[in-house]
Amino acid sequence: MNKPVLLTGLQSSGELHIGNYFGAIKPFVDLYEAYDSYLMVADYHALTSLKDPEAVRKNIVEVVKDYLASGVDPKKAIIFKQSTVPAHTELAWIFDCLVSVPFLMQGHAYKDKVAKGLEANAGLFTYPMLMAADILLYDTDVVPVGEDQRQHVEYAREAAVKFNNTYGELFKEPKEKILSGVGVVPGTDGKKMSKSYKNTVPLFGTKDELAKAVMSIVTDSSGDRPENVYAIHKLVRDETELTSIYGSNQGNYKALKEMLIEDLDRYLAPMREKRASITSADVAAVLEDGGRQARAVSEAKMEKVRKAVGVA
Ligand code: ADP
Ligand code: TRP
Repeated sequence: MNKPVLLTGLQSSGELHIGNYFGAIKPFVDLYEAYDSYLMVADYHALTSLKDPEAVRKNIVEVVKDYLASGVDPKKAIIFKQSTVPAHTELAWIFDCLVSVPFLMQGHAYKDKVAKGLEANAGLFTYPMLMAADILLYDTDVVPVGEDQRQHVEYAREAAVKFNNTYGELFKEPKEKILSGVGVVPGTDGKKMSKSYKNTVPLFGTKDELAKAVMSIVTDSSGDRPENVYAIHKLVRDETELTSIYGSNQGNYKALKEMLIEDLDRYLAPMREKRASITSADVAAVLEDGGRQARAVSEAKMEKVRKAVGVA
């Protein structure tokens, strides 16, 4: 019997933070050995925001190091770079030709940018269809992501249904897997932690960098406990212990933040140490191998797709 398929990806658009880890990487790591697993570097998605080739190149290597340091064994998961598997952009085009403009206009990533008065490029507009291709090419069953990506997985389901209704059943409908209690990790300003908001706690920062980020977390004194500090703390320490710690330190935000720094550091240090031993040559070898495997699976699927739509 084939195992079910697990797939996720992160954009290589900057240094990863603990929101990325607890939202997407950890759920993947917890599940991946029981599945046929794919872990992708969404480098073409990153081009929607990044225009500096050196940064693009560097971020790809950094993200793969992050994956490996987080505990993903490249022998047990196919780790690959989106741009080395042409089927992704090819299938995205076919989906673009199936979905409507008003449908894509409901996309959060696009809507948020427009709401902020920023110019959205056409790549950002059709971004969900590239992500749908990423997912559907591999007959993915489960997609571990943070809450903010729920809509994108829904879009992938919609793309599958549209395709299947138009051309016959070829794609499986995937489900998102959102870790309970983790959906949205708050940043130091209380908003969603995000690479683009400069409010992150870095996943592989030094202890000093962790301390600096934690000390800058905004606290508000209206409730019994500083919610933003607690929301991060509960990711790395048992909640029954935290209840008593936060109870006996009410109002003492400095002491609570100092404990959070220690707990975060204890949790992250082993991964940080592991990361230091991973070389760029290791990354190149992993991507080479993963790319070959991903191309084999996706190309077989694309042959069926091309026949179904009539170009082959
Ligand atoms: P960012 O917003 O930092 O650019 P991405 O959009 O690249 O992050 O997200 C990569 C993955 O990490 C996605 O699965 C996303 O849902 C998850 N993620 C990002 N930020 C958070 C967060 N603050 N809390 C939980 N998950 C998050
Ligand atoms: N859009 C996702 C993000 O910003 C990254 C991504 C691209 C992805 N392709 C994917 C996530 C496929 C899961 C599955 O986080």
